[in-house]
Amino acid sequence: MIKQSTVFICSNCNFQSLKWQGKCQNCGEWNTLEAKTQIAKSKSPNLVAVSPVNLADLAFEPKTRFKAGISEFDEVVGGGIVPGSLILLGGDPGIGKSTLALQIAVNLQAGVLYVSGEESANQIKMRGERISKNHNFQVLAETDLHTVVATIEAVAPKLVIIDSIQTMYSDTASGVAGGVAQVTFAVQTLMRMAKTLHIAIILIGHVTKEGNLAGPKTLEHMVDTVLYLEGERFANLRILRCVKNRFGTTNEVGVFEMSGAGLVEVKNPSELFLGEESIKASGNVITSVMEGSRALLIEIQSLTSVSNFGYPKRTTTGYDSNRLQLITAILSKRANLNLSNQDIFVNVVGGIKIDEPAGDLAVALSIVSSLKDIIIQETVVVGELGLSGEVRFVSNLEKRIKEAEKLGFKKIICPKSKIALKSNKINVLQVRTLQEAINSL
Ligand code: TYD
Ligand code: MG
Repeated sequence: MIKQSTVFICSNCNFQSLKWQGKCQNCGEWNTLEAKTQIAKSKSPNLVAVSPVNLADLAFEPKTRFKAGISEFDEVVGGGIVPGSLILLGGDPGIGKSTLALQIAVNLQAGVLYVSGEESANQIKMRGERISKNHNFQVLAETDLHTVVATIEAVAPKLVIIDSIQTMYSDTASGVAGGVAQVTFAVQTLMRMAKTLHIAIILIGHVTKEGNLAGPKTLEHMVDTVLYLEGERFANLRILRCVKNRFGTTNEVGVFEMSGAGLVEVKNPSELFLGEESIKASGNVITSVMEGSRALLIEIQSLTSVSNFGYPKRTTTGYDSNRLQLITAILSKRANLNLSNQDIFVNVVGGIKIDEPAGDLAVALSIVSSLKDIIIQETVVVGELGLSGEVRFVSNLEKRIKEAEKLGFKKIICPKSKIALKSNKINVLQVRTLQEAINSL
């Protein structure tokens, strides 16, 4: 027997409701519920067995990766692009996704098809002029998904760049362009094509204001590799991070600087941060944070000043403000500092964000430095702070010491460890507690 019923399906998130509502109760969008007639089949599906393969019988085909020609990018994706793979490149608007994709196209030349749903071919040319004089690749300004797929099949490029996946539209799928239903359909269609024709695809994706790539993680599950390009819009530094990789590790990061001629790779990021001779002032402390498998030296600045109001201010840039509250409490309780009448401002130089606890001790010492007006020079500080004022061990201490050595620092204040940490180039001062670290200043 066949039963017919009407359901209302949200064109944004595919949520199903039995009655019409003005607002989707799942995603909160207005006017997205559309009536659909559903035919419920009561017959059970045909059960047909197919034979699975034995993995041992399969010949191992080493994937022949190809290089994008930008070594920071190639390292992040695991040593080059795997043919037939889907790479999602996400990031805030204006961060440089299109620029990075264009640079890859410029490097790979013929063999690349750059599909843009956002800019015309002339606009891409104008942008390309800033990067290089040589643009020998194909461009297609199109938003219709089926035209794009047919063109890819006809051109058969090695790499396709889709800028952006949110602009692709198909009549077959429901919903508005950029909505979850459309984007999911576009990715599925492109994925099938990529796997059958062995064409690699870079999908550029916008990040929504909640920080998601079009719907909660929908896209990330489908693709092989997920990359995020991050950075402060008004600072020049850009970090390319890998959050998922079916063909490699996720702990490499690429560092770039946005210049007048596109993104420039930064081989030694610490030099970039410490390049400008920083003013010898109290409150400035250098710390070391891990970015992927690299140690980066970064400057933290603190300023304390007497509060005018009863409630002292705690303001941070590039640092978690709850963490600052915690460090302030530890400083008051364990180092007997009176901070209750002090406004505290903490700033991480260079538009970078520190979310590693290894920066705790440096933040604490920079506050002490500002409060007591002590200048801390040629010293790197690393260590996590415990609630009882103990300095805890941090990972990759040897790498951090090496980096400090390389950049000519004279001293490193770090946690005590079981392994003897010695260096003849730098004075390694191992401390157990916050008080010990303060006393050494
Ligand atoms: P874009 O790649 O368009 O960002 P997205 O695609 O992520 O939205 O980059 C936009 C910014 O980059 C824009 O503000 C201008 C700047 N830019 C440069 O500074 N130098 C360059 O060579 C290019 C091409 C762009
Ligand atoms: Mg763009």
